[in-house]
Amino acid sequence: MWVTTTSGPRQAVHGFGPAPLPPARGPLTEALLLALVSAPGTLRLPAPPAADPLADDDEALTLYLCYELSYKGLEGVDDRWEWEPSLLAARRELERRFVRRLRAELAPVPVDPRAVGEAIASVLAADRAPSVSRYLLEHGGPADFREFAIHRSAYQLKEADPHTFAIPRLSGVPKAAMVKIQYEEYGDGRAGEMHANLFADTLSELGLTPTYGWYLDRIPGVTLSGVNLISLFGLHRRWRGALVGHLAAFEMTSVGPNARYAAAARRLGFPEAASRFFDVHVDADEEHQGLAAGPLAAGLTELEPGLADDVVFGARALCLVEGLWSHHATGAWSRGLSSLRPSAS
Ligand SMILES: [Fe+2]
Ligand SMILES: [Fe+2]
Repeated sequence: MWVTTTSGPRQAVHGFGPAPLPPARGPLTEALLLALVSAPGTLRLPAPPAADPLADDDEALTLYLCYELSYKGLEGVDDRWEWEPSLLAARRELERRFVRRLRAELAPVPVDPRAVGEAIASVLAADRAPSVSRYLLEHGGPADFREFAIHRSAYQLKEADPHTFAIPRLSGVPKAAMVKIQYEEYGDGRAGEMHANLFADTLSELGLTPTYGWYLDRIPGVTLSGVNLISLFGLHRRWRGALVGHLAAFEMTSVGPNARYAAAARRLGFPEAASRFFDVHVDADEEHQGLAAGPLAAGLTELEPGLADDVVFGARALCLVEGLWSHHATGAWSRGLSSLRPSAS
């Protein structure tokens, strides 16, 4: 598809969604997918497994698909499922397990609302998870890099959308900061420059399929949980502090890793255009990290000091879930294995 942009040349704009339905991967997705292809009605999911809700492939995809109804929707699924009470009840139970798992590792810590930016910076400085960008730059092969892009497609093709849910829930200085960041994530008014669109370009340049949701069946639960985390924070007003903390931590950990991803893509001999998405982030997030730690996060806790714990919780939850993913991916690659689920076809 081509669009006329507000300035500059016409650019290719990828189609986004609805996502094709992936195959079931266990009893939860089996029950959900069976229900979703019918008219909205009473959904009953089996009891979730005793497994880790952040890592279980079946449970994470079930929650991901429930959330997808609030983004681009699912191919062939009636849009009324989004607000179907039985689906929301099932989603609430999965969310309860998800949050309980986070809280089991992240006990509340006291935070000074006047120093929330510094508190997030300390959380990030203490993070000891393996660095995927360093691994790809120093050791990764082309297949590893393509796998990394497939993992990231679960979020990057809807980049910025989960955080945008915060906008109507904020006011004043933090709202203005959030809108400025998001406006740039959405390409400064140019559809082709939207970061999600740039990521679709990168997928194409890597020889992958840029279609929204195309790789869902290959993406493990531990990756989907990273997206579920932002959707959880985004879709519940009561988690607005955590959503802001998550975005702040995201922006504050973007410049270095994206510079390494760009360098890794070049080292591996991918077309120059494959690096553009990462290069753009090195530039944009130089400014976004300051906006996110200052007017956004500190601005929020100045207006609502009671949210300081939640803001830092959002940053800690990001580190926890990203750490599970980076252990999984680098662990598989360093043993010469794939980090993806086997293809169903
Ligand atoms: Fe971005
Ligand atoms: Fe950014």
